[in-house]
Amino acid sequence: MTTKQMFIGGQWVEGKQHYELRSPYSGERIAMVPLADQEDVEAALSSAAQAARTIRGLTSLERSTILEKVSQLFQERLEECALLLADEAAKPLKAARAEIARTIETYKFAAEEAKRIHGETIPLDAAKSGAGRFGYTKREPLGVIAAITPFNFPFNLTAHKLGPAFAAGNTVVLKPASQTPLSGIMTAKLFEEAGLPAGALNVVTGSGGVIGDLLVKDARVKMITFTGSAEVGLGIKEKAGLKRVTLELGSNSAVIIDSAEDLEAVAARCVEGAFNFAGQVCISVQRVYVQQQLFSHFLSLMKEKAGRLVFGDPRSEHTDISSLIHQREAERIERWVMEAEQAGASIACGGKREGGYFQPTIIAGGASHLLVSCSEAFGPIVTVNAYDSWDEAVDLVNDSDYGLQAGVYTTSIKKAFDAAERLEVGGVIINDIPSFRVDQMPYGGVKTSGIGKEGIKYSTEEMSEIKFVSFKL
Ligand code: SIN
Repeated sequence: MTTKQMFIGGQWVEGKQHYELRSPYSGERIAMVPLADQEDVEAALSSAAQAARTIRGLTSLERSTILEKVSQLFQERLEECALLLADEAAKPLKAARAEIARTIETYKFAAEEAKRIHGETIPLDAAKSGAGRFGYTKREPLGVIAAITPFNFPFNLTAHKLGPAFAAGNTVVLKPASQTPLSGIMTAKLFEEAGLPAGALNVVTGSGGVIGDLLVKDARVKMITFTGSAEVGLGIKEKAGLKRVTLELGSNSAVIIDSAEDLEAVAARCVEGAFNFAGQVCISVQRVYVQQQLFSHFLSLMKEKAGRLVFGDPRSEHTDISSLIHQREAERIERWVMEAEQAGASIACGGKREGGYFQPTIIAGGASHLLVSCSEAFGPIVTVNAYDSWDEAVDLVNDSDYGLQAGVYTTSIKKAFDAAERLEVGGVIINDIPSFRVDQMPYGGVKTSGIGKEGIKYSTEEMSEIKFVSFKL
């Protein structure tokens, strides 16, 4: 058990106060973590502001080389980082390794992106008064970016903020989720080792409310990039004024099963999408809509596969599902499931809580207004319902305040294109679950699921400003 330090201005800094970080699975104390105060946040912001000129002055190749080096360091420390995730987030080792593998790729994509931040030439003489002029655009860094990251993918979703921020030549103050600060601290170590200039990355740990507020309101911060709940995201947006804001918020993602083809594999994939990291994923499968004729067979396939998931220690190779991030989240899920049961839904499997663990739960026949369906669960529950017509299925998916991604299994090209047109989401995933994501693709929702896009190319654009230049010849 160690006492951690924050990373500010290229120095490892002691906290004046600390909090205990405990494993969500065993309750064991893992580390003492600094609780940043106003003075620490001020130091982080002023370091980031001072370093802005330095990092802006690096060549594209220099920025790319640092990101490439970080990717390589993650490769070398893959197992260490995966174990750290198992400890602080109770992420089962298999899923933790997969997250680090993605983190390696994400930084690689960022290293590549740093080399291709292009502008364009503008034909100014297309306007009468533009004759004899030549125009072009270039992309410039914004300056200081505040990155507020969640507990569920603490390495990779941090990479989605730091990678493009540095690719575009910005500096960052990072506030990791209070339950997963160790991944933020480890990330800072690897950037330090990779030669990132002092002050370009600052990591402040502690209470989200206090630090978040200071970051969001500070005039030196030019952009806030946040992944987390819709409630917190909305609060940030309201306080941010003219700052640029990217919000990756939640969802109650749906999948339509319109085809009988390979139902066994489709059910396995739905179970994976619903219960991977106990459903604590923004694009977790929460609502499954199955064509009426396929419904009972599909439900029994899902039940059988969910029943095989192994609960246990996140450090074990055999564990599929472990404790939720906090016991209070398991208690919330328990209340939602009880509400569904009382309203006449049937609990096809699971439904019980043991401490911070909630069994993988399939709920059949629940109405769409129930919390298990209409609110973001962020837990191991999935609703499965039958539909009669294609139009009804599309309407059911769209009957949501959220709109991050949706999946559609169909053998009809017409329906696939129709889904792509009509589903009110940021990403339509044909012949797979909504949980599909690779890290270079555009990712971000509509409606309450957020604003702005991630995916390295897209966030590099969000994290830079177009400057226009006109030459009179
Ligand atoms: C998220 O939960 O927002 C991210 C999901 C992913 O990157 O796979």
